[in-house]
Amino acid sequence: MPATLANLHGHIMPLEDVRISAQDRGFLFGDSVYEVLRVYGGRPWLEEEHWQRLKHSLDAIRIEGVDLERLRRRMHETLAAGPFDEAMVYLQVTRGAAPRRHAFPKDTVPLELLWVQDYDDGPTAKGRTTGVAVITRPDIRWGRCDIKSTNLLANVLVNQEAAEAGAAEAILYLPDGTLSEASHSSFFTVKAGALQTTPLKANILPGITRKFLISLAQKAGILVREATLKREELFHVDELFLAGTTSEVLPVVAVDGRPIADGKPGPISKRLLEGHQRAVVEILHAK
Ligand code: PDD
Repeated sequence: MPATLANLHGHIMPLEDVRISAQDRGFLFGDSVYEVLRVYGGRPWLEEEHWQRLKHSLDAIRIEGVDLERLRRRMHETLAAGPFDEAMVYLQVTRGAAPRRHAFPKDTVPLELLWVQDYDDGPTAKGRTTGVAVITRPDIRWGRCDIKSTNLLANVLVNQEAAEAGAAEAILYLPDGTLSEASHSSFFTVKAGALQTTPLKANILPGITRKFLISLAQKAGILVREATLKREELFHVDELFLAGTTSEVLPVVAVDGRPIADGKPGPISKRLLEGHQRAVVEILHAK
């Protein structure tokens, strides 16, 4: 089984064989959008939600002429060509290649690339049990973080700072001290048994895991509040966890070197993680 397989405009090939123009606007301007999907037992998880979000991103930056049904078929063909079991799909659409001018070029064909790669959950699985550390950093991103664009420089820089601090993630705060989200994850807190997460209107990515966990919590009778939190409040919550496609539910036990509660993953984080894992097992049995 190949570890990675790409699909460029419908042609399946090793990832190393993909050739993209130096004039591609995704490369030159970050004029492109993307999605990351998790594949469990060969099945893409929450697939419909990812296609809907990709459509939202394409519409928001006005990339036209992408046949999403065709792209979906290509993804499934590539998954079957592996075949892949525990994997991840990276999917990117750019405005295409054209002489470098800022305004949209005319008649340029969007670039449609995806690849599937084996996914080793091992390191993250360990973090789910022990809990991870995070740091907080200023949110210097633009005002349209609802668009899943490949303009990720601010995210890259803070994530590097996290890595250098021995932390798993960086949670971001705005000039008024309000927390938004993390560099590549959503986050939730728990206080007095209630779950809280940043509202979508606060310039964050509409996380698919975030939405799934809100509904899971509501079904379990856990109170969910969508409200912003200030950075100082983070040090006084009962529980904190990251949420994302590959992270699933990742408990946080320290922020900026200070422990959260007793410094161990909390009960609601564990319950939601188990709920997520049960839902994954259910889709596998629904085969
Ligand atoms: N990151 N917030 C940001 C800024 C993200 O980049 C992501 C996803 C999330 C979580 O969204 P979801 O639950 O839909 O994966 C929140 C992807 C995985 C990445 O860039 O690798």
